[in-house]
Amino acid sequence: MRGIILSGGLGTRLRPCTTVTSKQLLPVYNRPMIYYPLNTLISAGIKEILIIVAPEHSGDYLNLLGSGRQFGVKLTYEIQDEPRGLPEAFIIGENFIDEENVALILGDNIFSDDFSKEIKNFKQGARIFVKKVPDPERSGVVKFDENFKAEKIVEKPKEWLSDYAICGLYLYDKRVVEITKKLKPSARGELEIVDLHNWYLAKNELEVSLVKGEWIDAGTFDSLLKAQNLAKEKLQDQLII
Ligand code: DAU
Repeated sequence: MRGIILSGGLGTRLRPCTTVTSKQLLPVYNRPMIYYPLNTLISAGIKEILIIVAPEHSGDYLNLLGSGRQFGVKLTYEIQDEPRGLPEAFIIGENFIDEENVALILGDNIFSDDFSKEIKNFKQGARIFVKKVPDPERSGVVKFDENFKAEKIVEKPKEWLSDYAICGLYLYDKRVVEITKKLKPSARGELEIVDLHNWYLAKNELEVSLVKGEWIDAGTFDSLLKAQNLAKEKLQDQLII
C-alpha cells in the first residue's frame, strides 16, 4: 500500500493565518498540522508516501520533512498547480501509485484511531471511513439502509440525508487512477471524491468502516482550536513522529 497526503489548496477559510503559509503547516499544539496525517500513515505501516503541495509552499515542505529517512519512510513530493479537486491526487500520483493500492489522507484531517488493520487487510475495491457528526452538511455523507449497507453518497447535501460524515482517509485499489481520468468536474469546477466512492458503490465494491475515536477536519478556526486541544490532551502519547 502506498500513501498520499494531499496538502495543497489555498486555505482561504483560515486567512490571514494562511496568507503567507500553507494551512497544513500551521501549528496544531506542538507539531505542524501535517505531522498528524503523516503519523496516521506511518503508524499504519505505510513506508512510501507522496506529499502533494501547492507550488508556492513546496520548498517549506521539503525543508520541514526532507527525505523522510528520519521517520523510517521514503517521502516524495509533487506539485498541484491549482486546487482542482481531491481525486486529482490520483492523476498527479499516477507514476507513484504504479500498480499498488493507495491510501489517500487529507493534510488537514486529524485522527486518533489506528488504521493498521484496515490498511494491512485491504485487498481491492475501495474503503471509506465515516463518523457520526452534529454538522454533516460540512462533509460528504453516507446514507445507510437498515442493514447498515451504504445506499447513497452525497457531497455536502443541502437537505439532511444522514449524520454520517465521510472522513478524509480513503483506500482504493489501483483502478482509481483510470476511473479518475474519466471523471467530469462538478458544478463548482472540481473533480469530486464522492464520484469515486459512487463508482465503487455502484459496482458493490465499496466498504465503509466506522471511525471509533476522534476525527477533526481542522480547516476552520473553530475546528483548528478543537484539534489543538485534542492534540494536547489525547494524541501526544500515540505520536511516533
Ligand atoms: O474532511 C473530509 C471532507 O473532505 C469530506 O467529507 C468531503 O467529502 C471532501 O470533499 C472534503 O471536503 P472539504 O470541504 O474538507 O474539502 P476541501 O476542498 O476543504 O479540501 C480538503 C483538503 O484538501 C484541504 O486541506 C485542501 C486540500 N485540497 C483540496 C482540493 C480541492 C488540495 O490539496 N487540493 C485540492 O484540489
